[in-house]
Amino acid sequence: MQTLLVTGGAGFIGANFVRLALAETPARVVVLDRLTYAGNLQSLADVSNHERFEFVKGDIADRATVDRVFADHAPTGVVHFAAESHVDRSIEGPEEFVRTNVLGTFQLLDAARARLSSAGSGEFRFLHVSTDEVFGSLGPEGFFSETTPYAPNSPYSASKAGADHLARAYFHTYGLPVVTTNCSNNYGPYQFPEKLLPLMILNAREGKPLPIYGDGANVRDWLFVEDHCRGVLRALENGAPGECYTLGGSNERTNLEMVDALCAELERALPAAQNPALVRQGIEDYTALKTFVPDRPGHDRRYAIDASKARRELEWEPRYDLESGLAATVRWYLDHTEWCEAVQSGSYRRERLGLEGPR
Ligand SMILES: NC(=O)c1ccc[n+]([C@@H]2O[C@H](COP(=O)([O-])OP(=O)(O)OC[C@H]3O[C@@H](n4cnc5c(N)ncnc54)[C@H](O)[C@@H]3O)[C@@H](O)[C@H]2O)c1
Repeated sequence: MQTLLVTGGAGFIGANFVRLALAETPARVVVLDRLTYAGNLQSLADVSNHERFEFVKGDIADRATVDRVFADHAPTGVVHFAAESHVDRSIEGPEEFVRTNVLGTFQLLDAARARLSSAGSGEFRFLHVSTDEVFGSLGPEGFFSETTPYAPNSPYSASKAGADHLARAYFHTYGLPVVTTNCSNNYGPYQFPEKLLPLMILNAREGKPLPIYGDGANVRDWLFVEDHCRGVLRALENGAPGECYTLGGSNERTNLEMVDALCAELERALPAAQNPALVRQGIEDYTALKTFVPDRPGHDRRYAIDASKARRELEWEPRYDLESGLAATVRWYLDHTEWCEAVQSGSYRRERLGLEGPR
């Protein structure tokens, strides 16, 4: 039987991937996660008793832990999601990003190499999950693709770029069968409420301001998380070792357009006139909560993805358009208030982070 080692499986995308892998493959799924502020066992509660699921709490940057997991579970594939993932936090404290994203990825790659040199590579795959942010910022025209030169601008994207280069080097130098995916902005269930969409949904529900960075005109290419997970699974199963695949939803929107679309969706799901948090303040429309705040230092202007290689070679196609994805997302957060409260029980209070500019 196949065994997938899923790092970061208690985080946003990882938790969605674990569900997909258990539902659509016969593989055993072993999650290795440190359970930082962004990882929560509540996100895996409904699969925790699944007979093919196992959870290991541990740090990917700790070699002894990684070696023990490889020895105990002999994975036939690694799907590597674990990372520090929030740009604003990387501006406040870049060191943890270098430690987890660069050193952690190195320890995983090196443990996989050591194990394969004794056990043989067989059908083994190392799927390294990365981001389109490694490519920097686009002007009004053009798209990122697999041939775009790297130009990371934030400590987060720089640490992911470092990890991508190590993954590439382990293929070219040691022949480790690594496949890398670089995906655009995800949205959907189980995303920690520091990120744009869940932050806006929860604030809107509570009648709090909807903070929009700068002029709100920064463009992202939005992809529903389940579609990303399917792309990762396709790349794991059908991707060629040493290859990279850019994944995106062809849904370019400014942040302002996304917030307006969310407000419209909220109005359908929970009309402002029936939301006591707005009625109390005499607010009749969710869009009245929009508030412009100082921009993020070094904020990339535009990301957009050409996903034609993944569509062609992996036969991958997103199933959700933005409308259906947003409707599903708003519904999920409104229906899962317990999860929202549980994951915010730590120190995070939806406060603004990462305002430190150039010195
Ligand atoms: N969210 C996006 O829009 C997006 C887009 C493209 C790529 N990605 C990439 O996808 C991956 C997952 O992103 P996400 O949004 O789910 O992140 P997330 O922050 O929601 O989850 C990260 C998970 O990794 C775990 N983790 C962190 N440090 C660890 C360590 N040292 N050892 C073990 N576990 C650790 C956390 O506990 C958490 O469960 C990341 O590699 C990210 O760069 C994210």
